[in-house]
Amino acid sequence: MWHTANGIINAKLLHSSSTNCVSMCVTSGILWFSIVLSFITVVITKATRGRTRFNPKCNRPPPPEVKGVSVIRVLHTLLTKGLQAMIHDQYTTLGSVFTISFFGHKVTFLIGPEVSAHFYQGLDSEISHGSGIEFTVPMIAKEVGYGVDAATRNEQNRFYYDALKPSKLRSHVGPMLQEVEEYFAKWGQQGMVDLKQELDQLLMLISEMLDEFITLFNELINNGMRLTSVLFPYAPTPANRRRDQARAKLSEMLIEIVRLRKSYNCVEDDVLQNLIDSKYIDGRSTTEAEVVGLIISLLFAGKHTSTITSTWTGAHLLANAKCLTSALEEQKQIIRKYGDNLDYNAFQEMDTLHCCIKEALRIHPPAPIFSRKVHKNFTVQTKDGNEYEIQRGHTIVSPVLFNCNLPHIYKGPDVYDPARFGPGREEDRVGGKFAYTPFSVGRHACIGESYAYLQIKVIWSHLLRNFELKLESRFPETNWTKITMELKGGVMVSYKKRQLHTT
Ligand code: HEM
Repeated sequence: MWHTANGIINAKLLHSSSTNCVSMCVTSGILWFSIVLSFITVVITKATRGRTRFNPKCNRPPPPEVKGVSVIRVLHTLLTKGLQAMIHDQYTTLGSVFTISFFGHKVTFLIGPEVSAHFYQGLDSEISHGSGIEFTVPMIAKEVGYGVDAATRNEQNRFYYDALKPSKLRSHVGPMLQEVEEYFAKWGQQGMVDLKQELDQLLMLISEMLDEFITLFNELINNGMRLTSVLFPYAPTPANRRRDQARAKLSEMLIEIVRLRKSYNCVEDDVLQNLIDSKYIDGRSTTEAEVVGLIISLLFAGKHTSTITSTWTGAHLLANAKCLTSALEEQKQIIRKYGDNLDYNAFQEMDTLHCCIKEALRIHPPAPIFSRKVHKNFTVQTKDGNEYEIQRGHTIVSPVLFNCNLPHIYKGPDVYDPARFGPGREEDRVGGKFAYTPFSVGRHACIGESYAYLQIKVIWSHLLRNFELKLESRFPETNWTKITMELKGGVMVSYKKRQLHTT
């Protein structure tokens, strides 16, 4: 039987009052080099299978295209200066919509909110994640997500929405607070920590029994996200075998919990219970295999992203005296109003902290680039009035990081400035629906956004109220060798316990 474990993401996912934990630490990130290699491999595979067929009847001209030997220059910039520099060069030369053509495979970049509507809102039948996401099927489950048709997937997303809606989130606050308080109670009066490690551990919240789950989950992700597994998810490689074994054991453990609940008629108030109780439109209940897949998928989506974001938020706060002062001032106001009894409403009122997290995400979106496959031609109009037709067969790319740093949307984009989201400025809103996309937006927007903000606020409001913190190491750099914009090296922080005075 699984017993009490502390957990932020997982507390309410698996058990409720007796909190629980599953880890989703994607420790093995893939090198940017691998992305390039993957791109090349996919392209070569496509080229050998035959060129993409394009509809000859176009109403508008195609976007400016980089092809032939010019592609070598683009690849050179990509490999020597990085993706952002490559996009910047082409954006400056060709404008907000351009295609890079390689061995007959066309990758079209859409820069800025003005040309991004269809990318984020297009129907799945017209524009989809394509085969690039197939590797998640053996890693997560063939019964959920990209293992099932779009209609079933939409229904399963409805289960998530239901489990994570604000009225449900309210009951997560108590256990989250308890876990955070218990965790930081171990810090003592003063000391020095690596914030990155601490927040990672806190979000894992390991307990004796759950160590096995954590290990298995890491095994699953580390093997399932290897380049070979991403490109050839069903090949009989050692990595795929290890991935499958880990998944099978995880599945056994989760099924045991589900069965125990059912056999003891034990109804918990948590996400797992919501998924067990969910019903499809035709009245069918979720199967055990589906529940397992839905939980693994949720952990995959939520754990690592939240760890990275909470660490970047902390690094920026501690490096910016003005922002830190505003965040502390807000905590004082909250204490004056709520005392020690913080509830869901109190966290909803932490607008300054919210903007600090949001700004950290703008500068370090965990998913810095999205891509889709076009199944039906569509037209885009740039802000300069140019219209282009993008044809079926193209891969289209929305570079989130680049888009979130466009100077015509975000004033002084290189500066950490949470106030840009505040009253009177609201640069993201002014920029339009597609100006801020770290959680994506539209058809495939993150379902766990509110959950993510809530848990990061619970952590940081506790730290701000109870500790005087100082960044001792240099401001962290981005580790570009990982796909998720992680921090490079440790983030050393000294702390001294204190009680935040409200006067
Ligand atoms: C700062 C933290 C997070 C960030 C930046 C983030 C970002 C994203 C992004 C960009 C997507 C869309 C991916 C795509 O287009 O394919 C997504 C999807 C999703 N996220 Fe998050 N996420 C975060 C935390 C969470 C958490 C904590 C949960 C769950 C508790 C969660 C659950 C999901 C789910 C279920 C989807 C799939 C939606 C779909 O397929 O339509 N996320 N997330």
